[in-house]
Amino acid sequence: MYIASIGSLLDTILDRTVVVGYTRAGYRLRSGMFNPDDLEPMDGKVALVTGASSGLGLAAAEGFARLGAAVRLLARDERRGEGARAEIVARSGNGDVRVDLCDLSDLEAVRQFAERLRQELPRLDVLVNNAGALVSERTLSPDGIELTFATNVVGPFLLTNLLVPLLQKGAPARIVNVSSGGMYTQRVHLDDLQMSDGEFDGPTAYARSKRAEVMLTETWAQRLGGTGVVAHAMHPGWVDTPGLKSSLPRFYRVTKPLLRTPLQGADTIVWLGAAPEPGRSSGGFWHDRRQRPTHRVPWTKETPEERERLWAECERLSGWYESRPEGHRPSVGSAQTPPDADPNR
Ligand SMILES: NC(=O)c1ccc[n+]([C@@H]2O[C@H](COP(=O)([O-])OP(=O)(O)OC[C@H]3O[C@@H](n4cnc5c(N)ncnc54)[C@H](OP(=O)(O)O)[C@@H]3O)[C@@H](O)[C@H]2O)c1
Repeated sequence: MYIASIGSLLDTILDRTVVVGYTRAGYRLRSGMFNPDDLEPMDGKVALVTGASSGLGLAAAEGFARLGAAVRLLARDERRGEGARAEIVARSGNGDVRVDLCDLSDLEAVRQFAERLRQELPRLDVLVNNAGALVSERTLSPDGIELTFATNVVGPFLLTNLLVPLLQKGAPARIVNVSSGGMYTQRVHLDDLQMSDGEFDGPTAYARSKRAEVMLTETWAQRLGGTGVVAHAMHPGWVDTPGLKSSLPRFYRVTKPLLRTPLQGADTIVWLGAAPEPGRSSGGFWHDRRQRPTHRVPWTKETPEERERLWAECERLSGWYESRPEGHRPSVGSAQTPPDADPNR
């Protein structure tokens, strides 16, 4: 009891002192308190990890493969995807790892991929929305959406909703959204989600998109309540990945000796997919296997109406209404149906 409260106090102190908590030092201190029996075998389960060709996605996919899951690696480049597959098979000894090609910033590609998966798989147990981008110049996706928002928010929004029927077949099933501690610095800007007013700033657009991911996670948790599918978001801390090196080179140079390894950063992704505790709740924001607050300062807080507006805007931008598969359209008049009653709405 005494040891547990000291551990909890230490954990909170680490969380507040960002620099220590987010680094490998924070992981080392906390992982000493992890329960080694927490990660249950995943034989017979299927996990899909987006952005699995490098960094955190590759490490998370390896974690699921080690636990015995059949793993689907979503990549946008065949060579990088196959390279990741070979690495995971060699390290985990699990040969049931496959590559799926899809560019998440391209909504038609997302629709086609979800359709292929629905035809191939009888069920899905874990969906990890990990792929992410931070771009320095304002760029548009093939659908004309600002690229950070398209890749981090709109594409995963559409993919997740299209895969809900498969997740429901795998229920109890889990959605894990990989956000970032950077989201603590931003609130959502509903009137300018694509940062088209004024000067574009890549890190700000990225942090806002990561805030949006957390808000959507809370909305999924609410809408999927009672379906057996839970949704959680997490942040991995500061992790030595190709993405961090290329998108924030100066930050990377300064912090390199302190950065976590991808396996350390991905630990909570795998835990959220495999451990019993996160299966008993939904809508949490996690770091190092503990639930964390979603706000550090009052001015980043959003209202329930703002969360609903974000959802509505994602529906509009992704064309979700038109994309819904037959058999998952709400019945006539369901616009008045409470969100909880119809997860596919
Ligand atoms: N590293 C950190 O310190 C840190 C901290 C907080 C949050 N995160 C989050 O962790 C996640 C993974 O990032 P990472 O650091 O591991 O970076 P990374 O090494 O660059 O990995 C990003 C992955 O996303 C894929 N991707 C990017 N755009 C895509 C698209 N349009 N369609 C499909 N896949 C796409 C990349 O594919 P390619 O290989 O083809 O580029 C790559 O596999 C991101 O969501 C990031 O925001 C990272």
